[in-house]
Amino acid sequence: MKNKIIQDALINNYAIPQFNINNLEWIKTILSECNNLNSPVILGVSTSAAKYMCGYKNVVNMVNNIKEYLNIKIPTIIHLDHATTYEECVSAIDAGFDSVMIDASSSLLTDNIKLTNQVCNYAHKHNVLVEAEIGHISEDININCTSVEDANNFYKQTDIDLLAAAVGTAHGCYNVKPHIQYDLITKIKESTNLPLVLHGGSGLSDECLKKCIKNGINKINFNTELQLAWSKELKSYLKENKDVYDPRKIITAGCNSMQEVIRHYIKILGSFDRYYETDNN
Ligand code: G3H
Ligand code: ZN
Repeated sequence: MKNKIIQDALINNYAIPQFNINNLEWIKTILSECNNLNSPVILGVSTSAAKYMCGYKNVVNMVNNIKEYLNIKIPTIIHLDHATTYEECVSAIDAGFDSVMIDASSSLLTDNIKLTNQVCNYAHKHNVLVEAEIGHISEDININCTSVEDANNFYKQTDIDLLAAAVGTAHGCYNVKPHIQYDLITKIKESTNLPLVLHGGSGLSDECLKKCIKNGINKINFNTELQLAWSKELKSYLKENKDVYDPRKIITAGCNSMQEVIRHYIKILGSFDRYYETDNN
């Protein structure tokens, strides 16, 4: 299924940022900053974050209402992140998500293919994008990286729109310096020509992110780095403002740091000044 935002990144060799959302403040901050820089954005929603925000429907309504209220013009995609079941994907699609990730990477490849195709069938009927994962996102490159052969088989046997491959990144904070398999990214790209997704974007150096994009990555997911920036600023605000009790002042105290992180990544990913009228919005 062709999507203007993703296709543009694929053709022009840049990456769309996925920033994961947790609440109203996250949505406001991410949308405002991306809009300021004219960058399309993917709002990642984990299944647990969706529950925290009172369900898929509420997430869609919140995002749409905030977009309208803040007059957000950039193209946005509401994306279900790391769903492991068909039912979760269907619920998100029925609630109005634009994109879902079915992550059956811990299953056998044949089972992963079967489940992914089941999700593609339902999603594409509703004009919803599908991202799938093979290999296992982990720092341990010796046992978990995606093979080119698996990527090619997966590409031929499914109808996915984006592929998340394990190339040496990990979720959360890195314990050791990551060893990104740049050649593997190139080879997987050559054998699939799919928009490739890099999970675990937090903690990677600017050079590393740029090289991943150069080698074929078109979407990069960031979550931890926003949480770290927000919580660090908030903690020091509370230390210096012991008498504050207004929840709005407290919860937004970390948002400036998040803005800086967002601005930084958009510049590194090359997604700024890309706004165009789109029927996906
Ligand atoms: O799916 C979400 C991401 O891969 C986020 O990873 O928290 O390491 O940035 P991160
Ligand atoms: Zn991830």
